[in-house]
Amino acid sequence: MLSRKNFIYTSALGVLPLSFAPSLLRCSSPVTSLDENFWQQIRSQFIISKDLINLNNGGVSPQPLPVQKAHEENLKLCNNGPSFYMWRQLDKQREPLRQRLANTFGCAPTELAINRNTTEGLNTIIAGLPLKAGDEVVLSKYDYPNMMNAWKQRATRDGIVLKWVDFQLPEEDENTVVAKFKAAITSRTKLVHITHILNWTGQILPAKKIAAMARQAGAEVLLDASHSFVHIDYKLSDLDVDYAAASLHKWLCAPFGTGIMYIRKEKIAKVWPAFSAPLPEDDNIGKFECIGTRSFAAEMAAAAALDFHENIGMNRKTERLRFLKNYWCNAIKDLPKVKLYTSLRDEFSAGIATFGIAGKDAGEIENYLLKQYNIHTSVVKHEALNGVRISPNVYTSTRELDLLIKGIKEFAAS
Ligand SMILES: Cc1ncc(COP(=O)(O)O)c(C=O)c1O
Repeated sequence: MLSRKNFIYTSALGVLPLSFAPSLLRCSSPVTSLDENFWQQIRSQFIISKDLINLNNGGVSPQPLPVQKAHEENLKLCNNGPSFYMWRQLDKQREPLRQRLANTFGCAPTELAINRNTTEGLNTIIAGLPLKAGDEVVLSKYDYPNMMNAWKQRATRDGIVLKWVDFQLPEEDENTVVAKFKAAITSRTKLVHITHILNWTGQILPAKKIAAMARQAGAEVLLDASHSFVHIDYKLSDLDVDYAAASLHKWLCAPFGTGIMYIRKEKIAKVWPAFSAPLPEDDNIGKFECIGTRSFAAEMAAAAALDFHENIGMNRKTERLRFLKNYWCNAIKDLPKVKLYTSLRDEFSAGIATFGIAGKDAGEIENYLLKQYNIHTSVVKHEALNGVRISPNVYTSTRELDLLIKGIKEFAAS
């Protein structure tokens, strides 16, 4: 095992030229999650810090070099005369980009708005739905704080009633999860809010089953796809949900501040846009894009992120992320004081997992890993959880994870 001292960091710029060679990735022979040569090539496309091992990609991910390059070139172009080059020239890429994002998410381009992040998308839907006092919404105690707050705000403002589902994490029985949502539904339930992958522990919820149950009970379904979009393989059309949103700066590795929002075509007309539009009751998804001046340079560079993602391939990426999670989890899960808050079964997790150490506060663990090993992680203290979340990405090496394992072992034994 490597010590901190002799750990070799790879400089991204030293391995491959800035211009990304996708052909390197289009291997004729099948490449698996274990082919370190392939994953080293992927790693070489990222700036790898000499000072930090970043294991909080769930918060926000870095962009690979071709995405940075596309973003920079877009910016340069725009700075030649923003109102001409940004609004007239660069914007011509918007509809082709929308089409590609819609294909990837599994919806029609007429159902997809390009915006800044999941928070914006879900808040638009939550604030814009025509709900009235007494209408009920089912959500969980482990949804993302911004969304729980958005619903609480509507409860305070409009008198809607929130029905909270609780979990015991990790949860390893899909039927139990569906039953919990079902138990919270009444004849007044208008909508069920599902977080596809919980940010706290990486738990995957059985969204398709919950959605089918909810729809049968007459409720609409909203999906928080912030962590599931291009992390695990699915299509919105298969899940059959009414509303969804995702951030492109997480698992797609697109520029910071880029996101998407989906609304089923026949529901668009009834959702009020958060920012006023000329025809607010129209069924044109464009009414949600009247959000004023923002960076088209960042938005349009999402196409380069899609290229990068497609060159890796959806299944290969999920497999790799799962392999990395299992790599460190299997090495620590049987230590006496260690508790995993995440199931290692494939149906319930992919790349993210959270662990705790009995008798230790999550903040102390996070601090130890950062101070001793320059490993950046995320503290999870919420409801029954007191742990540290680890979220590697496609550029993470097993050598970095070896250091994580070493640090956890040391701290658990202290
Ligand atoms: C489940 C979930 N939903 C929504 C968000 C919000 O994402 P953003 O900050 O990109 O809006 C996050 C961010 O981590 C998340 O984990």
